[in-house]
Amino acid sequence: MNKMTIRDIEVAGKRVLVRVDFNVPVDAETGAIVDDSRIRATLPTIRYLTDRNARVILISHLGRPKGRVVDSLRLTPVAQRLSQILGQQVGVAANCIGPEVEKSVETLKAGDVLLLENLRFHSNEETGSSEFARDLSRLGDIFVNDAFGTSHRAHASIGGIGQYLPAVAGLLLEKEINTLGGLLEHPVHPFTSVFGGTKVSDKVAMLKNIMGKVDCLLIGGGMAATFLKAMGYEVGKSLIEADSVDMATELIKETEMRGARLILPVDVVVADEIESKSKGRVVPVDAIPGDKKIVDIGPRTVEQFSEELKSSWTVFWNGPMGVEEIPQFAVGTQALAKLLPTLNGTTIVGGGSTAEVVDAMGLADKVTFVSTGGGASLKFLGGEELPGVVALRDKGTI
Ligand code: 3PG
Repeated sequence: MNKMTIRDIEVAGKRVLVRVDFNVPVDAETGAIVDDSRIRATLPTIRYLTDRNARVILISHLGRPKGRVVDSLRLTPVAQRLSQILGQQVGVAANCIGPEVEKSVETLKAGDVLLLENLRFHSNEETGSSEFARDLSRLGDIFVNDAFGTSHRAHASIGGIGQYLPAVAGLLLEKEINTLGGLLEHPVHPFTSVFGGTKVSDKVAMLKNIMGKVDCLLIGGGMAATFLKAMGYEVGKSLIEADSVDMATELIKETEMRGARLILPVDVVVADEIESKSKGRVVPVDAIPGDKKIVDIGPRTVEQFSEELKSSWTVFWNGPMGVEEIPQFAVGTQALAKLLPTLNGTTIVGGGSTAEVVDAMGLADKVTFVSTGGGASLKFLGGEELPGVVALRDKGTI
């Protein structure tokens, strides 16, 4: 990465304003944090700064409160969890801008950490207001972006603060860019990418960008229905987005032209409805009943995909193979997830629901890297420049 990081700047005694992505899943009933991996992922940056006597001010969003104060989206539980993992008390401010917050920041001592309240309680955050970015910038001497997961958003706290403060990357952001960038720039071959999830449209840019680098593309999940349809199979009542069949046809042709292999399921699990009480049935892809929906890949496909993965030196996986929230339709996804730690080469898992599955199965530490970015990793691998990265200082400019 050609951007400056916290290693390139003097932080001792400074007020360091760090944008993190603490947008963690929270249980709607109990308010408990369901998965704290995004909090854990920022520890290297926070510890680097506190070890060097910086005064650390963390800013984040949680959920989509749309400019209103929503009590269930307050960051207090996140601060509590961070205090536990960090082993030091993390204070919480009642707001993220204003004189009261400025006073709290002034009382911070070297090595202290303060988390400010949800940025998205202010509508100016999402509109990318320069005024809001300037108000935030008053709280720090240096700005650090460690929120890879939000770096595709041109929000005030992501792309705006760099206009007012020296802006550098945190260690998580650096690791994400170097790891995902490495997939595009110098993957060790054979390189296989596994794609799943429902929407083809979300992934077209990424598929197009990556297909010139991979040796093999494995397509499962809801999006396999679209590709199967494009190949002339009947896919029953499976959900297919408008125009996506034409997109899939084009992608199939393009993959072929570029000399990569695109492999679709040979069998699938079908059900009447996507519901927890529905039962699945395995059928070959040329015998999908007209009244059923595809809900998972079948056992022969799991075997075929597994063979491809075993003979690869780089594996990138984005998107579940079936409806992973419903246990009987999560079999294909879980089978591939279990295989990852046994593979010889580099194994990288894209963020979002794939990361959640790998984490819930206790496999996150057994693969090479799990990205903390869902949308951000899609955009980055699709070849887009991320506003949160563009806004940082180039190496050698401070
Ligand atoms: C994410 O979870 O993908 C990021 O935190 C960004 O959240 P958003 O999609 O609500 O902007």
